[in-house]
Formats: sequence, structure tokens, C-alpha cells
Amino acid sequence: MARPYPGYFLTFEGTDGCGKTTQLERLAARLRARGYEVVHAVEPGGTRIGAQIRRILLDSANQDLCPTAEMLLYFASRAQNVEECIVPALKRGAVVLCDRFTDSTLVYQGMARGVGEEPVLALDRIACRGLAPDLTLLIDMDLETSLERARSRGLSKQESRMDEQAVEFHRRVREGYLKLAEREPRRVRIIDGRPDADSVERAVWEAVAPLLEERRDS
Ligand code: TMP
Repeated sequence: MARPYPGYFLTFEGTDGCGKTTQLERLAARLRARGYEVVHAVEPGGTRIGAQIRRILLDSANQDLCPTAEMLLYFASRAQNVEECIVPALKRGAVVLCDRFTDSTLVYQGMARGVGEEPVLALDRIACRGLAPDLTLLIDMDLETSLERARSRGLSKQESRMDEQAVEFHRRVREGYLKLAEREPRRVRIIDGRPDADSVERAVWEAVAPLLEERRDS
């Protein structure tokens, strides 16, 4: 099937503290060194409006945010990001590296929070209008290690609402991600996040390089 845009849309996913942002930055550097235009998109956030929505979502004072409002806010931020940043970059032929996308909402709100997958998929159709990642790198590791990392990275108080969820919640998140990878093994690649950052970077590159070559050859 013909791809809708000349660019590449790659997403990074994983539990809090899995190291995906470090790996995204390393991949961005590799791609830039090879001459690609790289756009680093962030969810929630990434745009002026999205940054304001992010503050509401991650403020630890907002414990009373109800699950449906939470899901809608993630999609409000995403709709703005898709429209203002992601689609224009893909149309230019850039590689967009997105730190989380709809898989996060499917897993955190749909599965772990119990909102259900169907409402998430319905909102995805409205907010993303068919835009789906070409490849998703799922940085996976045991929960003990990732939660320890998330807690020790000194998050500002304003951004800790999600980190303060119970361990059981984060366990459901990890299981949800593994379920997605089982369902869509071609798109969602599991990368073992436990080894040192250089080894994880190599594994990420081994997953990404064939996609770029495939496109160049077609
Ligand atoms: P971050 O730490 O990767 O920037 O993500 C912020 C938090 O928001 C993280 O705990 C995951 C959560 N999140 C959701 O619950 N649903 C979503 O759709 C997204 C994008 C993030």
C-alpha cells in the first residue's frame, strides 16, 4: 500500500522510567548525522496548546481528574500535535520521532485505568484521522527497575501525578504494552531496555534501519 506521506513516523513507548526519551534522543542524533531532518515530538505537549494541557494532566494537585476527562485531554493535546507539528513534518519528508502516541492512551487509560479500548480507538479516529506509526519501539524492562528510575530522576512536583499511581497500575501498563506487541508484531518491536544505553541504542537502530532502507529502495 502506498504510504500517505514521504516522511517516517516512529514512536517510542514504554512504562515510566524505561529510558525511551534517552533512546529517542540517541536515534535522533544518528539520523541527523545521516542527513535526515528529524522532528522530536512529545506527548502530552509538543505545541504551545499541548504544553498547557500537559500541565493539567501531570499536576499532582489534580488527583480528582476523572478517567474520561483525562483521556479527552490526552487526545486534545494529540489532535493539536498532529495538526500543527506531526503531519506538516511528514509532508516535508522529515522523520518524526514521537515520545508516546495513541498506544500510551490505549494502555494507560484504556487498559490500566479501565476506560476500555473502544473509546480510545474512536477518539484516535477523530484526533489522528488515520495517522498511525510506521514503527513503534517499545522499550521494555521489569517494573522494579523502571519505577526506581522514574522516582529517582527528580521529577518536579508539578509533573508527578502519573508517577504516583500504584505499582499495580504500572503493572497493568506493562502487560498492556506486551499485549499490543503480541497483536501487532510487525509494527510494535520490543526492545530490551535493561542493558547499558549503548546496547539499547544498537538494538533500536537494528529495528529502524531496515525501514529506512526499504523506503529508499521502493
Ligand atoms: P512522559 O513521562 O513520557 O512524558 O509521559 C507523561 C505521563 O503521561 C506518563 O506517566 C504516561 C502518561 N500518559 C498517559 O497516561 N496517556 C497518554 O496518552 C500519554 C501520551 C501519556
